[in-house]
Amino acid sequence: MPVDEIMTEQTIVPQTDAKPVPTLPDAQTVTSVKHWTDRLFSFRVSRPASLRFRSGEFVMIGLMGDPDPKTGKQKPLLRAYSIASPSWDEELEFYSIKVQDGPLTSKLQHIQPGDQIILRPKPVGTLVHDALLPGKRLWLFATGTGFAPFASLLREPETYENFEQVIVTHTVRDAAELDYSRSLIEEIQNDEMMHELIGKDNLAKIVYYPTTTREQSPKMGRITTLLEDGTVFADLGIDGINAETDRGMVCGSLGFNKDIKEVLEGFGLEEGANSDPKHYVVEKAFVG
Ligand code: A2P
Repeated sequence: MPVDEIMTEQTIVPQTDAKPVPTLPDAQTVTSVKHWTDRLFSFRVSRPASLRFRSGEFVMIGLMGDPDPKTGKQKPLLRAYSIASPSWDEELEFYSIKVQDGPLTSKLQHIQPGDQIILRPKPVGTLVHDALLPGKRLWLFATGTGFAPFASLLREPETYENFEQVIVTHTVRDAAELDYSRSLIEEIQNDEMMHELIGKDNLAKIVYYPTTTREQSPKMGRITTLLEDGTVFADLGIDGINAETDRGMVCGSLGFNKDIKEVLEGFGLEEGANSDPKHYVVEKAFVG
């Protein structure tokens, strides 16, 4: 039997001191780690053979917590993370913030290739094509690590089959926090394998619209403000957003999600769900 099939919470590994210690439940192995800034990193892990997901969905991942001082027992410390890799990839990628006193990310930021993490193989989420009605233009609105599900969707052929244009907005505090999204988009537009899989013409549908709010960059300001005052439309040479042609996916902090929902509703878009596809969908990015 392959190792991953017998790695359950019940598995007991005999120890030399005769005290049985459970192995890590749902363990996956880290294959690579990249630190983008002192606040952001991405990593890849092995993919459970049985895991099927739709690009844009999330899973619970984490590490074992510290032993309880009284009982010595350890509990898994899990958080919802969007899968940043596409559904066809043989590994899984994640994009994370580092919070110095965050229960999980204070530890997770130190993982190295070969280490194990816990991954519950139950993908869910609303940032999926099934939750949107057909349209012409797809807007992907992200702040911070909210770009993660879009890193998955941008590598998914269906994204381009369904739309004529794919506009990706990413708002961050400082310019370096755009490195992950910028390099990912450049990479997929220049990668031979992506050309074959998705098509050069399809990849040319991507319009990247990065903005910063605290450090000088070519485009400053919150995307919500730039939509409301029409800057985005003037920059991109389009009339505006409307319910006939435009579809949106939103992933960011709670405050961002709330504010952009108001902006999109103001344009006449309605929120959809897996069971009730409409004009836009929203999910909270993991922020700490
Ligand atoms: P700002 O610098 O003006 O707060 P964070 O790192 O705190 O998650 O923020 C990521 C980006 O999201 C920042 O550029 C931040 O802008 C922006 N942001 C935060 N809240 C909102 C909001 N309610 N509407 C639009 N953008 C927001």
